[in-house]
Amino acid sequence: MSFMRLPALPYGLARPFLFGLDAETAHDLTIAALARLQNTPAMCAWARERVADAVTVAGITFPNRIGLAAGLDKNGQCIDGLGAMGFGFIEVGTVTPKAQPGNPKPRLFRLREAEALINRLGFNNDGLAAFVANVQRATSFRAGGGIVGLNIGKNAATPIERAADDYLLGLAGVYAHADYVTVNISSPNTKNLRALQGDEALDALLGTLAARRDELTAEAGRRVPMFVKIAPDLDLAQIDLIAATLVRHGIDGVVATNTTLSRDAVKGLPHADETGGLSGRPVFEASNRVIARLRARLPARFPIIGAGGVMSGADAAAKLAAGADLVQVYTGLIYRGPALVHEAAQALAVAGAARAKAEAAAEVNPSKAIADRAKSARKATRAPRA
Ligand SMILES: Cc1cc2nc3c(=O)[nH]c(=O)nc-3n(C[C@H](O)[C@H](O)[C@H](O)COP(=O)(O)O)c2cc1C
Repeated sequence: MSFMRLPALPYGLARPFLFGLDAETAHDLTIAALARLQNTPAMCAWARERVADAVTVAGITFPNRIGLAAGLDKNGQCIDGLGAMGFGFIEVGTVTPKAQPGNPKPRLFRLREAEALINRLGFNNDGLAAFVANVQRATSFRAGGGIVGLNIGKNAATPIERAADDYLLGLAGVYAHADYVTVNISSPNTKNLRALQGDEALDALLGTLAARRDELTAEAGRRVPMFVKIAPDLDLAQIDLIAATLVRHGIDGVVATNTTLSRDAVKGLPHADETGGLSGRPVFEASNRVIARLRARLPARFPIIGAGGVMSGADAAAKLAAGADLVQVYTGLIYRGPALVHEAAQALAVAGAARAKAEAAAEVNPSKAIADRAKSARKATRAPRA
């Protein structure tokens, strides 16, 4: 495509303007511009060549290991525009069955010194019907092999005891349009949502969803992988229980992690006391800790999608070292711009090739491989920050 050949504009030109605006206004303007300009010649302003590093995870061939995390494009309006930044996959949503406004504004804050955000958006979105119509309109990203994940949640007005009803509606509604579906049970901004990560609640929810997925597989003649997205604020025993429950119900992958409630890393900074989920650099270690524990507890090839605080290629590679197979970014894109996508994809291509080599060697010497993997996971959780 011709727009791919022109040099992209440096994000350094756009960032001061965007950061001069209230965070949600900047976000809305960007989404509106991407939605309007995607698939036009103007896309050259931000399009980047995609790093070719195909990898098969959960039975899907991803063109590379870097994806956009859920929540930036909640309505699936600019899959093609975002995809053109060089992502291998784009996760859109969280969508709820009915449209809802989310929490009162202001509800999105920059913590610039920490390269972080706090949000309490509360699943503001246009609802399932509009979401599916938008996803169906996406063309160029998918035509080029890009993978689209659809992330589902529950309406705020649905009582938590009836949460499964909303997830069932979401699953059935998005199924035919998804390369994979993510069940989001870890947003801190919908009352009691995170309680669904608890042992019995998770067992019941995943049992219901797995049964429905089997029906949908038969109806559609296609088995769509189902991932579950979890929080960073879990102790080791909770992570172990979640890992066992995911395996028991035939879940295809885990997205680790969502935003954190912890404020330890940002104490005293402006906006640090705002209610909501903290993302970006301060969540890097916590999410790596969850990934490493999942890796230790899950079967060897169980897919882990790592998210949380990836601000550089080295951070993305550290997620792989901790045990992730794929990596997502959100807050890093706000601070670094589209250049982060290429940088992370390239770092992941190098790290992924090294890992594949080590795994091949492991078939010759399995005990050394286990020791090496444990060593690299320890390193990933302790790596000093740049
Ligand atoms: C403003 C904002 C909105 C988000 N909305 C969602 C959402 O709707 N669904 C979801 O699963 N995760 C959502 N997230 C979480 C991100 O997908 C990601 O898991 C988290 O921010 C950690 O990654 P990061 O440090 O790269 O941002 C949101 C994050 C931010 C910053």
